[in-house]
Amino acid sequence: MPLFEWTDKIAVGVTVFDNQHKQLIAIINELHDAMKERRAKDVLSGIFLKLENYTKTHFHHEITVLKSAGYPDLSEHENQHRVLIEKLADLREKFDSGSLFVSTETMNFLKDWLVNHIMGHDKKYSGFLKD
Ligand SMILES: [Fe+2]
Repeated sequence: MPLFEWTDKIAVGVTVFDNQHKQLIAIINELHDAMKERRAKDVLSGIFLKLENYTKTHFHHEITVLKSAGYPDLSEHENQHRVLIEKLADLREKFDSGSLFVSTETMNFLKDWLVNHIMGHDKKYSGFLKD
């Protein structure tokens, strides 16, 4: 069973970004499954890296679109992205160095991390881009 699933509640109404959020959810679910199946450390590490890389791609895409649309709170949004990437990188480094085990707590953190990004920040551009 997946850790969580995309629902309309977290839709931002911009198809390309909703699809990218679905992809992020899929990677977090993949990590969750690998954790439950007690897969090897390098497998988990690889999924962590995939999550970080895809997040960077997604954030880059968001900023590019928001910039060309003249979004007023661009720098605030960029700041939030930076904080989110730092959290993710910190988690991955701790995992790689052996000071963190992927646990239910880690997975809930990642779930909240993504939901907070979408609900707290992306929902703000939702109305702007749809207009
Ligand atoms: Fe986003």
